[in-house]
Amino acid sequence: MKGKFITFEGAEGSGKSTQIELLGKYLKERGIKVLLLREPGGVKISEQIRELLLDVKNIAMTKECETLLYLAARSQVVEELILPAMKKGLVILCDRFQDSTIVYQGHGSGVDIDFIEKIGRFATQGLVPNLTFLFDIDAKKGLDRISRAKDRIERRSLSYHHKVRKGYLEEAQKHPERIKVIKVNGGKEQIHQEIRRYIDEVLDLSSSANG
Ligand code: TMP
Repeated sequence: MKGKFITFEGAEGSGKSTQIELLGKYLKERGIKVLLLREPGGVKISEQIRELLLDVKNIAMTKECETLLYLAARSQVVEELILPAMKKGLVILCDRFQDSTIVYQGHGSGVDIDFIEKIGRFATQGLVPNLTFLFDIDAKKGLDRISRAKDRIERRSLSYHHKVRKGYLEEAQKHPERIKVIKVNGGKEQIHQEIRRYIDEVLDLSSSANG
């Protein structure tokens, strides 16, 4: 695989989408071919599954159904978009991936994490990100920052979102070589610089990174 697969994780309202855009711009300015996408989504079938997952009317959805739908959406985007982009040598910036399912459905809703990891390997064909940024923010602070209508997952209780935050930090401790924790308390430019330091190292851009 010639490309690099970089994922962005974290609670709601942590500002990760803004950072993905800033990083995408930074890389494009350096002539690097970038693919930006979000999960669940990225391709038509996965976007359709996303609608089912986030629709506030689907209150009857079980945690098992929810888990399998997230993995189904992922399997489609991996095969249709991510793996071909990796083969072409692109840098892929992906808003959420497998860690989200481990944390939201596993740590948050109590689905067996070993099961998610096993079926997750089937869904992703074993693809693991080269680097993951975890945007860490207090659960309430993050939720308060959402100004649009909240989706089905965002509407869950504060205690659920506390479990999500804790789960993320536990996963980061398990995989310190891959998951880098970014504390969301600085301004967006300061956070961007912090991310660039990791990216410059992973993509070997240090000599051209001063612009
Ligand atoms: P987004 O708001 O970051 O686009 O993500 C959509 C929602 O789906 C968000 O509330 C987190 C949730 N989610 C899961 O619960 N499990 C998953 O595997 C993924 C990818 C997202």
